[in-house]
Amino acid sequence: MSSGRTEDITVQVTYDGQQHELRTYSNEYRSLMMLIYDRIYIEGFGECLGMGKCGTCVIEITEKKQNPTAYERNGDANLLRAGRQNKNICLSCQLMIDEQLDGLTVRILI
Ligand code: FES
Repeated sequence: MSSGRTEDITVQVTYDGQQHELRTYSNEYRSLMMLIYDRIYIEGFGECLGMGKCGTCVIEITEKKQNPTAYERNGDANLLRAGRQNKNICLSCQLMIDEQLDGLTVRILI
């Protein structure tokens, strides 16, 4: 019998030349930024704690099985201001932890 909650979402994160496999489950964290923030120490990452204002949680999506679910906030405006217009580059605090995230491979850009 299943306990109900399984770590069924896997995200590969590359930072500073090292690859980290992060396993989680739907809604364990508020966003991909919080998952990364909690599991990998990255100085200066996620400074506004997910308000979509600091731009320090920028990632590049290098592989995906499906499109991740994004919050509708002002993240795109901040990215445009920062001059990043590549559609694979986004704020990790704008991505929800749900099954759409499974199989995602990202690179931290700060
Ligand atoms: S944590 Fe500040 S913009 Fe994402």
